Amino acid sequence: MPSIAHDPEHRLWVLSGPGSSYVLHLDDGHRLRGLHWGPVLTLEQAASLLERPEPGRRSFEDPADGTLDLDTAGAMRYAHAGVQVRFPDGVRDLEPRLIGHEQTEHPDGSTELVLRFADHHYPLTLDAHYRVHPTTDVIERHLVLRHTGTDADGPVTVVRADSATWVLPRLGEYRLSQVRGQWSAETQLNRTPLPYGELVLTSRRGTTGHQANPWAMVDDGRTGEDHGAVWSCALAWSGSWRLTAQRLPTERVTLSAGFGHDPVTWELQPGGELTTPVCAGAYTEGGFGAASRLWHRHVLDRILPHPDELRPVLYNSWEATEFDIDVTGQIELAERAAALGVELFVMDDGWFGSRTHDAAGLGDWTPNPARFPDGLGPLIDRVHDLGMQFGLWVEPEMVNPDSDLYRAHPDWVLHHPHRHRTEHRNQLVLNLARPDVAAWLHGQLDDLLTKNAIDFLKWDMNRPFTEAGWPGAEADPDRLWIDHVRHLYALLDRLRADHPGLRIESCSSGGGRLDLGILARTDQVWTSDNTDALDRIEIQHGFSQLYPARVMGAWVTDSPNSYTGRSAPLDFRFHTAMTGVLGIGGDLNRWTEAELARAAELVAAYKGVRHLVQLGEQYRLRPLGDGELSAVQYVARDGRECAVIALRRSRHFGHRERSLPLRALDPAARYRDTATGTLHHGAVLLSQGLPLDLPADDCASALVHLVREQT
Ligand code: GLA
Repeated sequence: MPSIAHDPEHRLWVLSGPGSSYVLHLDDGHRLRGLHWGPVLTLEQAASLLERPEPGRRSFEDPADGTLDLDTAGAMRYAHAGVQVRFPDGVRDLEPRLIGHEQTEHPDGSTELVLRFADHHYPLTLDAHYRVHPTTDVIERHLVLRHTGTDADGPVTVVRADSATWVLPRLGEYRLSQVRGQWSAETQLNRTPLPYGELVLTSRRGTTGHQANPWAMVDDGRTGEDHGAVWSCALAWSGSWRLTAQRLPTERVTLSAGFGHDPVTWELQPGGELTTPVCAGAYTEGGFGAASRLWHRHVLDRILPHPDELRPVLYNSWEATEFDIDVTGQIELAERAAALGVELFVMDDGWFGSRTHDAAGLGDWTPNPARFPDGLGPLIDRVHDLGMQFGLWVEPEMVNPDSDLYRAHPDWVLHHPHRHRTEHRNQLVLNLARPDVAAWLHGQLDDLLTKNAIDFLKWDMNRPFTEAGWPGAEADPDRLWIDHVRHLYALLDRLRADHPGLRIESCSSGGGRLDLGILARTDQVWTSDNTDALDRIEIQHGFSQLYPARVMGAWVTDSPNSYTGRSAPLDFRFHTAMTGVLGIGGDLNRWTEAELARAAELVAAYKGVRHLVQLGEQYRLRPLGDGELSAVQYVARDGRECAVIALRRSRHFGHRERSLPLRALDPAARYRDTATGTLHHGAVLLSQGLPLDLPADDCASALVHLVREQT
């Protein structure tokens, strides 16, 4: 079946992946409806849907409400509208007409459909883009708005331009899955019945934010980890955003997501266009586990810049030293890290300008001469001699008022005239929307990367926007909300292109900038500043709903944990961190010889399974909340081996844990435990499960690596 099929007579388009179809229909009122989103349908089957009457009596309703894919405001529609504009004469209604459509085959095998609409009176066109790939059920949707008039027409104000509005089928009941969070408590999974009305998940902070993440999943309330259908969408944007889940009394449900937030608008000048980011949507069967695996595969295959690359084991000095760093201390830590098998040594905050605490120096990106008298060279050389890559912390979009940069350019920050400049963590936000600021920043970073053999940047962003003004801006200053992100993306893209060996970690006070937009130009994400293993199980569980382990940075730090004060055994801390991209962030000077020796063994064990963790298919065998044991299995794409990581908080009444039924193995094959040599039948592992023999103490854990026997 072709990925996109068209029936001109019925004005239907059927967009299909291997297991799903999304059907669009242009109705008699020129409105583009989402007719079906679910299992695969042929064109003929889709056309038969047109003969079905809408249930219910709707005298006081516009039947289009809650059914529009191109969800424009106007007429008798009172529900949520994903596309809203204001013309110079005050008219807010849109009356788009289809003026053309085209299909393009891309070299990567995907097909793109563009449906072109124009308002029948005002000079505005709207192009709805859909991209489908024959190997995945993810549909990528974005919108392009174009002002086709002249200066005489004046600018059009774009009030809202959602990238996509996804129309769900009637399910009876609706349940929404999302993640909520805050600093040091990110990505906590939340499942609640979808209330009537409009539920808005949003960030108004100028960045993705800790509080919510730009994705949502809907099911009928009965879907489980391994069974049931899921409708999900995710927005590829790292600035302010909003995702509206709407449930109408008529039982129509939509998910609509886009950049920006109320009341920020965008002025479209004559000849200008506004391209929205992509919002991707997917219908999946097989439960939340299958939905997550689809998104993981989407991120690995279609989003990440270096998808097949295994991420190295890193060491980061932040929790060990905080701001108290110098060349001697860093070399000492690097030597200890190298002895453990670490492959990437990252020096965190405190190396530049007068940055000996968090109130000074941000913006002055030259090494502190008292701490690094000969620059970064001696440290970098030593790290490279030790066989490791070198990484460096930067926070490019920020400035401390106590810095040479701010003293020279106090007008370069976001600010309003006659308003206070609110500091957070003693810092202000650079107005990256300004072309001169963006050019200066590029020069600074390019210089740093050219003069120093830096393999990796930890790119931080430690505060949200306030007083987001731009006095003297040539155009509408509101554009800074979008242009900040666009210039950030352009900066990352240019640095990567000019320094092809460079890899980047996205950080924003932990996991505050995690989304499909930033993942297209970074290699991993700092998941949370909270490195307490028990808290991390919860944070990482939520993270895994959409994002793969390949991007989930996780460090083993000291015990008791510096943030929570809680203690946990070394093995448990390691095993928890091994469910993502393993790193170490403890003060290695304080670890005992026995701990260092065990840490080296565990790093080696991780290297033996990381191709499975980072690139395999993830099965949450025992999701959080299912008793005290949580367990994840990572299966090679060819099914030949798997790794299981089991984490148990505490044992009750002395009861031993039940064995863990595994997934996605060959029942006819036998699998050897690489540590013990024990042979297991695939059929037994699948039905009866993998026996676990965890120690009785609290915080017990295990890593099991199984490899299929050659027959
Ligand atoms: C943020 C990051 C931390 C660390 C500090 C340095 O909080 O999330 O990991 O880099 O900044 O100031």
